[in-house]
Amino acid sequence: KEDKLKEVISHAKEYGYIFPSSEIYDGLSATYDYGQLGSELKNNIKNYWWTAMVQMHENIVGIDAAIFMHPKTWKASGHVDAFNDPLIDNKDSKKRYRADVLIEEHIEKYRAKIEKDVAKGIKKFGDDFDEAQFRATNPNVLRNQAKIDEIEQRMGEALTNEDLPAVKALIEELGIACPISGSKNWTDVKQFNLMFSTELGAVAGDASTIYLRPETAQGIFVNFLNVQKSGRMKIPFGIAQIGKAFRNEIIARQFIFRMREFEQMEMQFFVRPGEEMKWYEHWKNERLKWHKALGLGENNYRVHDHIKLAHYANAACDIEFDFPMGFKELEGIHSRTDFDLKQHEEHSGKKLQYFDPELNENYTPYVIETSIGLDRMFLAVLSNSLKVEDLGEGKTRTVLQIPAALAPYKVAVLPLLKKDGLPEKAREIINSLKFDFNCQYDEKDTVGKRYRRQDAIGTPFHVTVDHQTLEDNTVTLRDRDTMEQTRVNISDLKAIIGDKVSL
Ligand code: GAP
Repeated sequence: KEDKLKEVISHAKEYGYIFPSSEIYDGLSATYDYGQLGSELKNNIKNYWWTAMVQMHENIVGIDAAIFMHPKTWKASGHVDAFNDPLIDNKDSKKRYRADVLIEEHIEKYRAKIEKDVAKGIKKFGDDFDEAQFRATNPNVLRNQAKIDEIEQRMGEALTNEDLPAVKALIEELGIACPISGSKNWTDVKQFNLMFSTELGAVAGDASTIYLRPETAQGIFVNFLNVQKSGRMKIPFGIAQIGKAFRNEIIARQFIFRMREFEQMEMQFFVRPGEEMKWYEHWKNERLKWHKALGLGENNYRVHDHIKLAHYANAACDIEFDFPMGFKELEGIHSRTDFDLKQHEEHSGKKLQYFDPELNENYTPYVIETSIGLDRMFLAVLSNSLKVEDLGEGKTRTVLQIPAALAPYKVAVLPLLKKDGLPEKAREIINSLKFDFNCQYDEKDTVGKRYRRQDAIGTPFHVTVDHQTLEDNTVTLRDRDTMEQTRVNISDLKAIIGDKVSL
């Protein structure tokens, strides 16, 4: 699996998806640039999300708030005081770790044991194997599950109560060793604030310290009444936003999974107090459905309910995806209560209440939040799509089976030869398609090599123009996934491609 991540990283660089940031200066850790194909894929993911959330919901609208916000925002939201990671240093290796991540990685070992037992059962009994029954009754599985539950419970409590000695005690009790040196000689656990700060204007000092936003959500909360009033929105309604967020992550590794500058796609859904659990379940299901509809494989998703709740939440879960590094958080769904709006009321002295015409009363709405990392979604799509296929006779091909709706180019138009009017005909076809689809023209190398290149960058359709095209206006249409080639009329291309690449 580690090798898989390496393959993804090198493929992403080779074909213009992702480059290390400022690479000529040897890069900047945990910072990446999206290249010519990466920015297309990223835009397509944004559109896919925006369409599903904003366009498809009458009661959800979108905004684009500034990255810089009044410093009081972050005092009110709790980020100045509580947006911390618990860090622990290994005294021998001098390496620094997030204590919660060390414990979670330890928990994964028990999960792996369970999956190994299940896999054995499947191998032994085949179709006769009742997996659900096995998971519910097998003593080994139950013992490992009990251990997982116990550790999660204790870690959750310790972190929620900010009981740092208890976190350290748990690490020692579990015998967790430094992944680099194997040493168990740990320091105490310390808190570290993740916000980046800078100075506003020319005067330094506390009064002018501002932060780069660590989440896009607060831009939505402070605009709650602006949007509600100007848009005449009625509860329940949502506000969506896509934008950059910044966190001074300590363990910034695993490619674009954990970066210091990243993008979030968030939606806050404002509901009547008391109805939040109904809406929490609603959005949990909706978001899971959205993920599964993309076609990356239903088994690649898992929901993880939180035991340790963030300072603002009364229920929370993650939608996890099976990344090359294993199952990890892709999206978070939180029931944020009225915490944020109430805090902003208190710190700003302004009322942030809603008058409910049906109930004929004022109240501070409760909020359900869906928050997905754009870059993580990108990594999910890219890593899941990259395949090396065995073509028999010792031949292989590398293909990026990106869902057609998200692919950077939808169609490549390839003249068979660079003469006899074929390039001109190919450009004519592109001119008739480019208003509907992002097209690529390629005339370099043999057509076989050009097919391979389009496979590798994920273009779902390849159109080849040959001498027959000049006579009867038909072309060869090749499918990236099946490699099947069919002869079709140029006038049918738009409908055939459109059908497959529509959302
Ligand atoms: N407003 C709620 C919030 O920000 P979060 O769980 O801290 O919640 C939401 O973040 C999502 O943002 C995560 O599920 C993840 O996809 C993404 N994310 C968080 N930190 C990230 C990082 N350092 N790099 C890339 N994506 C990140």
